[in-house]
Amino acid sequence: MSVERRPGVDSRSVMEMDSAYVMHTFRRQPLVLVRGEGARVWDADGREYLDFLAGIAVNGLGHAHPRLVESIQNQAGKLMHVSNLYYIPEQPLLAKKLVELSGLGKAFFCNSGAEANETAIKLARKWSYKNQGEDKYQIITALQSFHGRTMGAITATGQPKYHKGFAPMLPGFKYVPYNDISALEEAVDANTAAIMLEPIQGESGVHPASLEYMRRVRELCDAKGLLLILDEVQTGLGRTGEWFGFLHYGIKPDIISLAKTLGGGFPIGACVASNRVADAFEPGDHASTFGGNPLACCAALTTLQVMEDEDLIGNAKRVGAYFKSALESIKSKTGAITDVRGLGLMLGAELAGGNAQQVAAECLKRGLIINPIGLDVIRFLPPLIIGEVDVDKAVKILQDSIAGSTA
Ligand SMILES: Cc1ncc(COP(=O)(O)O)c(C=O)c1O
Repeated sequence: MSVERRPGVDSRSVMEMDSAYVMHTFRRQPLVLVRGEGARVWDADGREYLDFLAGIAVNGLGHAHPRLVESIQNQAGKLMHVSNLYYIPEQPLLAKKLVELSGLGKAFFCNSGAEANETAIKLARKWSYKNQGEDKYQIITALQSFHGRTMGAITATGQPKYHKGFAPMLPGFKYVPYNDISALEEAVDANTAAIMLEPIQGESGVHPASLEYMRRVRELCDAKGLLLILDEVQTGLGRTGEWFGFLHYGIKPDIISLAKTLGGGFPIGACVASNRVADAFEPGDHASTFGGNPLACCAALTTLQVMEDEDLIGNAKRVGAYFKSALESIKSKTGAITDVRGLGLMLGAELAGGNAQQVAAECLKRGLIINPIGLDVIRFLPPLIIGEVDVDKAVKILQDSIAGSTA
């Protein structure tokens, strides 16, 4: 492990200052990251790590991709922000690109996944209000889902632990078990406007929707005149080996939410909808001061262009399959892993030992960043540029760490 010290910044002093001045909303790992390049990051004490979390599915191009850095530097020197009261050339360019990739109609830009979901919820309600009357407001979401931390997004999130202490939640939401079409059919009532799902539930442990379920959900929406909102904040933009998660299912949603990979590390979110739905929004219905600013749009345009030029979608599919089979081989050969789930470079492994937190801590000691979820799941979200050599290194560290934490 190479050591590159940064004078004046050491991990301990950063952690102490953070504890004193930053609100304690995060359960942070004892790691202070100060630099990144490709699939590697370095901490304040000069230790190098292989990054198999990529800012939780954000750094699709890896860290400090030269084209993204150059494009942000150029745009920052030209124009960073102007109000959405005026036209911003990069905004329709980015919207057109997302429309072409998704087959949907129009985009709205914001700054995060939660805001993209707020936009989706408001748009679904506005469309239903205009087209089907004021009683159509209810959004059905899945248990164990995750949609973000604003009040609308935590209400949509079907996990009581995120609601605790923040009551009352927004009215007009209902939750059903994921991948259970009968439960969903039963839940739809006269007030239902939309169904909102993740193609793969990420935060609760990498649980993909089944093909049959997703198709039947689309049919149900068509039969009942409901909108299908897919939260593609984590699954979108190449993560699963396709541009969007929904492309694995041969269906088309009415609305999608995007963020994470979109800006390659620069904050930007988007809600993209079919024209029929998007046109329900009128001037004044929704807005964001920073949403779609020239710098964020420029970062996103460059990110998408690099993804195309470097075939990162193909890479996610190929290297994802290679990684998945390596995890499956640990499962069949050692039994230390009991289940491997996910698509492309969004993978989850369930550990026999129920010691995901310990295994992740051991990995960190050995220079690998991964994400433990609950007692037994490890989530892997490496940058989309990752290669097989780094996957081999990560798998070796994982195996050593599993052995080290059961010894
Ligand atoms: C599926 C999904 N939706 C929404 C969000 C919230 O995104 P943000 O943290 O950018 O608000 C996340 C974040 O992890 C997510 O995974």
